[in-house]
Amino acid sequence: MDTKPRVFVTRLIPEEGLNLVRKCCEIEVSDYDGVLPREMLLKKVKGARGILCLLTDTIDREVMEAAGPELRVISNYAVGYNNIEVEEATKRGILVTNTPGVLTETTADLAFSLLMAVARRVVEGDRLVRAGKFRGWEPLLLLGRDIHRSTLGIVGFGRIGQAMARRAQGFNMKVMYSSRHRVEEKVERELGATYHPLDELLTESDFVTLHLPLTPDTHHLIGEKELRLMKKEAYLINTARGPVVDEKALARALKEGWIQGAALDVFEREPKVEAELLTLENVVLAPHLGSASYATRSKMATMAADNLVRALRGEIPPNLVNREVIEG
Ligand code: GLV
Ligand code: GLV
Repeated sequence: MDTKPRVFVTRLIPEEGLNLVRKCCEIEVSDYDGVLPREMLLKKVKGARGILCLLTDTIDREVMEAAGPELRVISNYAVGYNNIEVEEATKRGILVTNTPGVLTETTADLAFSLLMAVARRVVEGDRLVRAGKFRGWEPLLLLGRDIHRSTLGIVGFGRIGQAMARRAQGFNMKVMYSSRHRVEEKVERELGATYHPLDELLTESDFVTLHLPLTPDTHHLIGEKELRLMKKEAYLINTARGPVVDEKALARALKEGWIQGAALDVFEREPKVEAELLTLENVVLAPHLGSASYATRSKMATMAADNLVRALRGEIPPNLVNREVIEG
């Protein structure tokens, strides 16, 4: 038997995953409490056959170079993998994997919570109570917008987008969606969703919720022009990736009342938040919590570990992102 392959894990993740890796690999888990600084990352990956990383780690050519020719797999602890230079990995014969499916419902739960929180001004209300300003029931206190029977516009209709449509059914919402590929008619019928070009969806929706990956095509998909198309009473919800929205344009839209409000779980330059947003009452700000439930983070850990271990055994990992690496 060869010596056990060396695996570097960039930050502590739930134990279930680490235990799987421990069984067959020599594992080092970074004990740095935060996003691993670049120089440390470059040093720590040296000689690794596998890297288990997070969406907060930029894994580019330099990191792959620093790891050296032994590097076989990069397992991302996330469904989105815009943090990894996949083309570069493919060129080098490195497998890249992600964690799709397990976080679908959990992320949709969060998106729906944000939608409800902003429409019914829950967070503003909380601030008011804590500030000692609650004087008792008032006829005009913090009026918001109804969720039931409103129109939900879902941009990106993959697993998470469709999970939103299912939730919307329980609220008797009218569901419109827009995506690169139209889904089968049967799925549309089951979910009660109709396909529309983005402009039309923006014009007609009361809530616009984003569920697409960040790619060069989706960068700033929602900018000034799109925000101006939305109704003045409408809300924007983003639980996908920050750069899908032009954050400066959004801050202006919220300040100048082009739209009613927004709820964001992701930001353009995380962990930085556009300063103007912090001053506005009509936006709910969450610290990238989409997949943050005990059960889901644990499943993600197992899945990321399983992908990594299988790749190191020479198998095709179940959630391979760059199939070209084995085909070409
Ligand atoms: C979370 O943002 C993920 O991509 O898993
Ligand atoms: C996530 O799992 C998605 O593809 O929507």
